[in-house]
Amino acid sequence: MIKIRNLKKSFKDHQVLDGLNLDVETGETLVILGRSGMGKSVLLKHIIGISKADAGTIDIGENRISDLSGPDLYKVVINMGMLFQGAALFDSMNVEENTGFFLREHGDLRAKKKFTSSEIRDKVSQALEMVGLAGTEKKMPSELSGGMRKRAALARLIVYRPSIILYDEPTTGLDPITAMQINELIVKTQHELKATSIVVTHDILSALTVADRMALLDEGKIQHIAEPDTFMKIDNPIIEFLRKSMTPIAKRPQT
Ligand SMILES: Nc1ncnc2c1ncn2[C@@H]1O[C@H](COP(=O)(O)OP(=O)(O)OP(=O)(O)O)[C@@H](O)[C@H]1O
Ligand SMILES: [Mg+2]
Repeated sequence: MIKIRNLKKSFKDHQVLDGLNLDVETGETLVILGRSGMGKSVLLKHIIGISKADAGTIDIGENRISDLSGPDLYKVVINMGMLFQGAALFDSMNVEENTGFFLREHGDLRAKKKFTSSEIRDKVSQALEMVGLAGTEKKMPSELSGGMRKRAALARLIVYRPSIILYDEPTTGLDPITAMQINELIVKTQHELKATSIVVTHDILSALTVADRMALLDEGKIQHIAEPDTFMKIDNPIIEFLRKSMTPIAKRPQT
């Protein structure tokens, strides 16, 4: 369970998060929607401990990560993974090296030992198989399409089986078919790893495909949170806009 209370963050005089409260249940996929610049990426960076809040608390299970730093923070964060907006891969490494990077660098963090080369190879090939990139091990990032890069970045994330996964706009910039494949992967990853997932997206179809619950971040707070059916009926201008965007213009009621 992730429990966020009264989270505040400003940059100079710009208050981005303004007393935000949020509970994410273990094993659920929560989608966070909101206008550009409202602080969705900032929120994810706080949850994974990259950014520090001005005030408020974030609890991950029993750990108040907002109070932790250094090795104590690291111990909690190793169970979490984030797919960053832009899905950066290391350009100088091929797909196999990219995917195995974390395993090679850190070894088995839970058992505190190094992995052998053949263990790494097996785990990498399982992860690539899972994201549909089997056979691309020797390709360089520059040889991959945008959708393949996202999938490779996802493979790099799931290879160490995190229990919490944060996705920052996983389908942005992809064609609808590739985007739907990524959505399916998010659902499959959640089922296979039994992970708790938070997905930030502008893509309403993606949101409806993956969400157990949906939340709207606006004016520094979570304004609404509900299961998809209920969420989509909420009387709010931004949700109204999302509803409209799903109806062809010709079929919209004339006003
Ligand atoms: N490191 C930083 N320094 C200064 N301002 C920042 C920093 N990070 C974010 N901001 C500001 O905080 C606000 C929220 O940024 P954030 O990236 O979280 O938006 P977002 O909701 O993810 O938007 P988008 O949908 O476009 O990705 C923006 O006004 C941004 O300029
Ligand atoms: Mg963002």
